[in-house]
Amino acid sequence: MTFAGRRILIVGAGLAELAGQAFRDATLQTAGLERLQARWAFGEAPDLILIEAGAFEPDALSTAIAALATGATPPPTLLTGDHLPAGLVRNLMRLPRSDVLEAPFSAADLAAASGPLVAPTAAPVLNAPSRCWTIMGAVGGAGATTLAIETACALAQRLPGPRRVCLIDLNLADGAAAAYLGAPANMLLSRASQAADRIDPQLLDAFVSGAPGGVDLLASARDPNAYDTTSADAVLRLLEVACQVYDAVVVDAPRHRRSWTLDVLAGSDELLVVSELTVPALLAARSLAAEIENDLPAGPQPRIVLNRLAKRVFGPAPSMAEAEKAMGRRAAGGITSDWEAAAASANLGGPISQHRPKSRIVKDVADLVDRLIAAPARSHPEDLRVA
Ligand SMILES: Nc1ncnc2c1ncn2[C@@H]1O[C@H](COP(=O)(O)OP(=O)(O)OP(=O)(O)O)[C@@H](O)[C@H]1O
Ligand SMILES: [Mg+2]
Repeated sequence: MTFAGRRILIVGAGLAELAGQAFRDATLQTAGLERLQARWAFGEAPDLILIEAGAFEPDALSTAIAALATGATPPPTLLTGDHLPAGLVRNLMRLPRSDVLEAPFSAADLAAASGPLVAPTAAPVLNAPSRCWTIMGAVGGAGATTLAIETACALAQRLPGPRRVCLIDLNLADGAAAAYLGAPANMLLSRASQAADRIDPQLLDAFVSGAPGGVDLLASARDPNAYDTTSADAVLRLLEVACQVYDAVVVDAPRHRRSWTLDVLAGSDELLVVSELTVPALLAARSLAAEIENDLPAGPQPRIVLNRLAKRVFGPAPSMAEAEKAMGRRAAGGITSDWEAAAASANLGGPISQHRPKSRIVKDVADLVDRLIAAPARSHPEDLRVA
C-alpha cells in the first residue's frame, strides 16, 4: 500500500515522528482536537485522520469524535492508544470507516493498520431494480442536466451490461441532454400522446438512442409547442414503462411545474434539487424543496446538491456552512466547479466521466451516488434536516 500524495491529519503531537516514518511520501499535517469539530470544504478533507488518544482528556476526545461523525462524509479515522474507554470507542465506531491501534506499536504497525482504511472501497452495488432518480435545478443553469448525465453514467458503471440505465430528458421543449451527449433525440412523445396506453417496451425501443457512457437516452427534438401537445398520461406511461425495462432511470426534470410534475416526483425514489452557491439560488432551492415537501408529504425527501463549488478566490461566495444555514437544511453533497471539463465534454459530446475522467466533478458525483445508494431517501427521510 502506498500513501503517496495522501493527506494525513495527525491529532496529537506524540504521533508525528512515527507517522513521518510510516507515511514517507504522504502530506502530513498536525492539528488540535478542535479541527475534528469544524467542517471541511469539499475536496479538502484529509484522506486519513490519526488520533493519539493519550494526548487528550477522554470526554473531550469522545465529543470531538462524535462531532466528526455528524459530517456528510467523515474521513477514515485511526485511533491509537491503550485502555481506551468504551464510550470513546463507541463514538469512533459510528464513523463509516475507523479502527483502533493498540499501543505500543511501530511505524510498520501504523502503516499496516492505516492501509485498509484509505484503500478504495468497492462501489456499493445497486441492488434495488428500477430506482428512479429525478434531478431538478433550483434556478436556470444550476447544472441539472450536467448532473443528470453524470449521475446516469455513474449508475451505469455500477450496473454494467446493456439496457440497465435510462436517462429521460423531460425538458420537452428545449432539452439539452442529447446535445450534451452528442446523441440523437429520437423520442416522439407528443405523437404518442394520442394513445398513451400504447406506449410499451417496443415503442420505448424506437424512442431510445444509445448514448456514450453506457446510458440509453430518451430525449425529444426541440419543439416549442411540446408542452401543449404532450399529455400527462403519455409522460407518466413513458416513465412507468422505462422503470419496467431498466434497472435505473434518471430524469432531467424541468424546473417549472407541469401538470405531470408532482406525479413524476411522487414516483421517484431520489429527488435531487441542484443549486449553486449564490444567495438567490440557495433561497430558490429552499423554497422549491419546501414546496415539494408541502405538496408531497409522503414523497421522497428532496435532497439539495450544491454545484460548482469553487475556492473562495472570486469574491464573497457563501461557505458550505453558510449555504446550509440559508437553506435551513443540510446539503446532500457538493460538486466542485470545473469549467474546463464541463465545457470540453459538452463540446466533444459525451459525459465528463468519459472525456475528463479525472475531473473532481466525476469523483464528487461518484461519492454522492454511492452515499445515496447506501442511504436511500425513502428510508432515511429525517437525516438531512438541520435541527
Ligand atoms: N460542476 C460544474 N463545473 C463547471 N461547470 C459546470 C458544472 N456543472 C455545470 N456546469 C456548466 O454550467 C452550465 C449550465 O449547466 P446545465 O446546462 O447542466 O444546467 P441546467 O440546470 O440544466 O440549465 P437549464 O436551466 O438551462 O436546464 C453548462 O455550461 C455546464 O457545462
Ligand atoms: Mg438543463
